[in-house]
Amino acid sequence: MKRIHILGISGSLRADSTNTIILKTVGTLFPSDVTFEIFEGLGEIPHFSPGLDSPGLDSPGLTDNQALARFKTAIGQADGVVICTPEYAFGVPGTLKNALDWTVGTGEFNDKPVSAISASPLNTGGNNALASLLLTLTALGTRKNEASSLSIPNVKGKISAGQVTDKHTIEALREQCGNLLRLIG
Ligand code: FNR
Repeated sequence: MKRIHILGISGSLRADSTNTIILKTVGTLFPSDVTFEIFEGLGEIPHFSPGLDSPGLDSPGLTDNQALARFKTAIGQADGVVICTPEYAFGVPGTLKNALDWTVGTGEFNDKPVSAISASPLNTGGNNALASLLLTLTALGTRKNEASSLSIPNVKGKISAGQVTDKHTIEALREQCGNLLRLIG
């Protein structure tokens, strides 16, 4: 039987990103027969503009962009996707939104089971970004339900030495993993 494979996408490019740490912890919470990888290279994806994704039109070179090709392939090959993102200026980081916009025309996220997580050092938990991300994931036609999202407030106190240490947060992340696996079916 084919192994379930999950892709993690962090909305932060920072080396010591709290959101990437959360994703790494998520990767440890799936059953051992589930494979998990975090996408690397979100910042190398070019700026999206309609038409650039059609070969032979305005800028054929962009369709050859390696990071973009890897991004689309990674989503296409994953059975489910976990996105964990910070909030910048009450919204989704431009780098993440840009990458998602590239998939509108090609449909890699269509019917893809997803979990959406936001984390913030503030007590609002990145709620604005999470709400916006969920709207985008709806527009992309992802498979999700009312339990497919989690916001993590005051994140700095819940992480230590590169791991999530707060047991309530770990439990909530474990529920995200379980819900995602049920959506995959
Ligand atoms: C932030 N931060 C932030 N946090 C938040 O909850 N709401 C917000 O609107 C913003 N806006 C914002 C703008 C800019 C330019 C920066 C640099 C930061 C704080 C942000 O949540 C914090 O830096 C996180 O630690 C970023 O996540 P990573 O990189 O640790 O994953």
